[in-house]
Amino acid sequence: MKTDRLAAVRGMNDVLPDEAPLWEAFEARAIDVLRAYGYRQIRTPIVEHTRLFARGIGEVTDIVEKEMYSFVDQLNGENLTLRPEATASVVRACIEHNLLYDAPRRLWYIGPMFRHERPQRGRYRQFHQVGAEALGFAGPDVDAEQILLLKRLWDVLEIGPVRLELNSLGSAEERARHRAALVAYFEANADALDADARRRLHSNPLRILDTKNPALQPLVEAAPRITEYLGHESLAHFEGLQELLAARGVSYAVNPRLVRGLDYYNLTVYEWITDRLGAQGTICGGGRYDPLVGMLGGRPAPGCGFAIGVERVIELLREAGERGDQTACDVYVLHQGGATYLAALHAAESLRDAGLDVILHGGEASLKSQMKRADASGAAYAVIVGESEAADGEAAVKALRAATAQAPFAEQRRVPLAQLGEAIAGALATEQESISGTN
Ligand code: HAM
Repeated sequence: MKTDRLAAVRGMNDVLPDEAPLWEAFEARAIDVLRAYGYRQIRTPIVEHTRLFARGIGEVTDIVEKEMYSFVDQLNGENLTLRPEATASVVRACIEHNLLYDAPRRLWYIGPMFRHERPQRGRYRQFHQVGAEALGFAGPDVDAEQILLLKRLWDVLEIGPVRLELNSLGSAEERARHRAALVAYFEANADALDADARRRLHSNPLRILDTKNPALQPLVEAAPRITEYLGHESLAHFEGLQELLAARGVSYAVNPRLVRGLDYYNLTVYEWITDRLGAQGTICGGGRYDPLVGMLGGRPAPGCGFAIGVERVIELLREAGERGDQTACDVYVLHQGGATYLAALHAAESLRDAGLDVILHGGEASLKSQMKRADASGAAYAVIVGESEAADGEAAVKALRAATAQAPFAEQRRVPLAQLGEAIAGALATEQESISGTN
């Protein structure tokens, strides 16, 4: 009988061991930068009640209309959804656990998100975000702070030029007046609209501004702009943000057509974009969502945040030649089976006691082929517990990547088993010193 070959779900990727170190390197640096700005981690479930996203993100957004992995739990009939983003979840958790009652919060998260989009380069059905949410701050200081945090992260990662596009969506009333003007404008030009735009004309006319259809560009270009409808307070918020960015030398471009795809935003919205990833060049999107806490049933509190598309940043790092730390271990232990295996097992455990990462050769093979494995493993040292070494209570140690003839164990040399951990930890430290000394 022929069995089906099982494959991953379309648009959902495995991260294989050669690739994972790059993810680890990115995550470690992102977490460092988030901590430098006082953010603390929050972990929320991957599955939430569907109504959280319908209410939080908005019924007439692309995400809620057609991209959510929603299902009925067959065991209890609940309507559930794999999270398409985490802002709604974080706000839900803050309300549920009363996190906002005494002080504002700076929170960060990392993890997979799910959207049923058409897969292409940089766009997946399971993708990952690192995000942050600041709750209880009216801004614009915290909006500026998040932008500085992101700028610092791009600098630390050395991913090259990323441009910042910025806009203000004003208040609900200002948006309503802008929306009425937009509807009137597009109705007057209804013949020129495509089917998608016509469908959105009365449900979400703002999204027409986001159209990718080149034929609509002149029409969209001349449409009424939100900035013309901003009142004094919104303008002061937007100008305050821009002054802080200028004071820190952050360059940006105001893009009056930037509307973002989620309905919870007000005032500040922004995207960071690179030209090196083709059509999916937005590596981070964010902004302010003051109405969201109230919309989800909490006592109203302002909010502001962003999410980074991890796959997209990883691709930039990969293109820059980054691979992360590919070394699997410090030491590879070889043996000749039988009693030598037991001696090698004790040696490996004592090396681990000394804080070293160790691969103990599994199974039986000639010392020659074990040595090939040791070389390929990337280990710094081979420890050989052969029959003659074991009989003497010793192991032979050989540096696999000695830079100079004077390096410790450049020549193979025997060490008593009882001193093995100390000898190799010491040799590694000497090696480290000589590396940092030459830098
Ligand atoms: P978003 O713009 O929907 O915002 O997503 C943020 C980032 O996630 C995008 O800029 C992109 O880099 C990445 N991304 C989105 N969809 C995909 C996909 N299908 N495949 C790969 N990467 C993708 C949000 O999710 C908001 N929650 C951000 C936010 C937080 N606003 C305020 N707080």
